[in-house]
Amino acid sequence: MTDTLTIQQDLQKRALRALAGGVSSNTRLLNPHLIVERGAGSRLFDVDGREYIDYLLGQGPNFLGYAPPRVVEKVAAAQRDGIIFAATHRREVEAAERVLSVLPWAETLRFGSSSSEMVQAALRIARQVTGRTHILRFHGHYHGWFDNIQILTGDGVAGVGSLGQVPEALQQVITIPWNDVAAFEQAMLDHGDQIAGVIMEPMMLNAGAIEPRAGYLEKVRDSCTKSGTVLIFDETISGFRLGLGGAAGRYGIFPDLAVYGKAMAAGWPCAALVGKRDLFAEVVTGRLTHAGTFNGNVIAAAAVLASLDELESGEVYSGVEIVGTQLIEGLRGLTRKYELPIRIQGVPMAFHMRFDDSEAEITDYEQMLALDPTRYGEFAEQLIKHGVWVAYRGIWYVSGAHSPADVEETLERIEPVFARASRN
Ligand SMILES: Cc1ncc(COP(=O)(O)O)c(C=O)c1O
Repeated sequence: MTDTLTIQQDLQKRALRALAGGVSSNTRLLNPHLIVERGAGSRLFDVDGREYIDYLLGQGPNFLGYAPPRVVEKVAAAQRDGIIFAATHRREVEAAERVLSVLPWAETLRFGSSSSEMVQAALRIARQVTGRTHILRFHGHYHGWFDNIQILTGDGVAGVGSLGQVPEALQQVITIPWNDVAAFEQAMLDHGDQIAGVIMEPMMLNAGAIEPRAGYLEKVRDSCTKSGTVLIFDETISGFRLGLGGAAGRYGIFPDLAVYGKAMAAGWPCAALVGKRDLFAEVVTGRLTHAGTFNGNVIAAAAVLASLDELESGEVYSGVEIVGTQLIEGLRGLTRKYELPIRIQGVPMAFHMRFDDSEAEITDYEQMLALDPTRYGEFAEQLIKHGVWVAYRGIWYVSGAHSPADVEETLERIEPVFARASRN
């Protein structure tokens, strides 16, 4: 039978045997088992040679597109010097300095390999510096898959996010609606003396693409300052994507600690916890543990440096702004033409698409939960079949490698999907 299988089908079968569920991360269980051969610029190619224009970008990191040639060259050259030394190396120092130079509110940092880990370091620091125990977090925000932070929200109640998770690990986590000043003030009133840290995505990108309401971040910042609570921005998606300064720079509100990853290293695995120097005092003494064999390795540091070389020129951001706007307008045009209840919300670098009979802007997670994701899921499947690679959850990412011609081609490829959806 094997000889009648395509390369894709054969590899899918083998993947299902060799990799649990055929994948290495549960978020990939949601997408069909596409087996990728390679990516180049804005395009992804599967093992059968099919080509896709990609707006998922590996869940965001490939902000410069796939295999950006100058970054590849610099990382390849760097790794010839060895990768990990159990000691600080020159590129690591330089990469830290470069990151700090574009985040003027921040004073020092630690590198790690994933944002899940860096969030753990942030929570630990917040608890140590305040001597308090609780963490305030928000419905719909994602901060990694570890026991003490992963939640699942249903009917406004946060529960454990995974089988096998220790429910007690969430006892010191308070979850409230985001973008809601009254809910925040109430939580601070009720639990303020216990709350060590407030952690949030400063633009909510894991559930929709929702910007903070005017004045919301200011309110939270002000309250944290007054109560001595550590404000942590999880900028894993927004960092280096919304601009060099991430969401903090875009909205002009600065946290005490922030987590970066994804776009910071253009797809190479690297994350960072960045913040005020005094907060790291016990990390420096070694009494507060932050560790990791691969932290700050040569490949990661070289990728950060090479990415910043590209990003600091500013052309990437202006290009993404133009192309992202063109794409949003084109998609809205198709939506109008075929009279579909599709709404698009967000910013040119990251926007969200949904089927929604209401035209009202979505401002919180409760409204997101009220939507039926099935129709968009089926629509996304059709987009993929027509050669446009997108996430089932509705988020679209644009990279510096996408061109106006890519957008035109995208719209041409997917117009039949809109036409078909309007007939159904
Ligand atoms: C806001 C946010 N925080 C943390 C994480 C976890 O990052 P990682 O997958 O690098 O552990 C993610 C991943 O998507 C994220 O979006």
